[in-house]
Amino acid sequence: MDRIPEPELMDDYEQGQAYARADFSEPNKQFLRLFQEKFPDFSGHGRVMDLGCGPADILVRFVQRYPGCQGLGIDGAEAMLAPGRTLIVRKELDHCIRLECSCLPLTDAVGRFQAVLSNSLLHHLHQPDVLWQTVRDCAATGCAVLIMDLFRPHSKQKARDIVRMYAGDESPVVQQDFYNSLLAAFRVDEVCRQLQAAGLALSCQQVSDRHLLVWGCM
Ligand SMILES: C[S@@+](CC[C@H](N)C(=O)[O-])C[C@H]1O[C@@H](n2cnc3c(N)ncnc32)[C@H](O)[C@@H]1O
Repeated sequence: MDRIPEPELMDDYEQGQAYARADFSEPNKQFLRLFQEKFPDFSGHGRVMDLGCGPADILVRFVQRYPGCQGLGIDGAEAMLAPGRTLIVRKELDHCIRLECSCLPLTDAVGRFQAVLSNSLLHHLHQPDVLWQTVRDCAATGCAVLIMDLFRPHSKQKARDIVRMYAGDESPVVQQDFYNSLLAAFRVDEVCRQLQAAGLALSCQQVSDRHLLVWGCM
């Protein structure tokens, strides 16, 4: 099945609210588990960047797990950041997490980071190389990079089955977004080619029936 791109930014207010209300705890916990598994020696200190952070649930979980880190979340949609800003205040993490409304590719220098994270951004990008360029620009020497995304199933029917299985109880807006995202996602072999073209020595593997993972040290 060919890729069907979707809009890059999720800048619709209703979409942002529906996304923030949806239950992504299982994949978000998996993201943290995979970080710990892939980087058991991570110092737990320094600056961590979350690209396309949305409502910042992953960044909040990360900083709670590694309280020595300062987090910066970047997203081009204020509608997605707004629930994240509320969450950060509620969790009393505003001293160590900052959210910024900016689009990739980043034009302002944001400095170097000890960890670069991203979940479910890649499939939104019309030019996926902007993600790999940003990773290169933001990574300090030895930076831990962990990027998770959906991969594209072989058929629309398979995509419908995945939506029913994992989001059957979610709102129609979230189910439609999930379906569109599966159709817009890249396959593992496509991501491997992107990494090769970008000259990044990062690994890419399938980690669930719907997710792929890119990871490595810079
Ligand atoms: C599916 S959401 C994932 C949010 C979050 N990472 C999570 O795991 O819940 C994808 C996010 O990427 C953002 N995004 C898409 N293209 C972007 C770009 N070029 N620059 C910055 N953010 C972008 C969207 O606005 C959206 O908030």
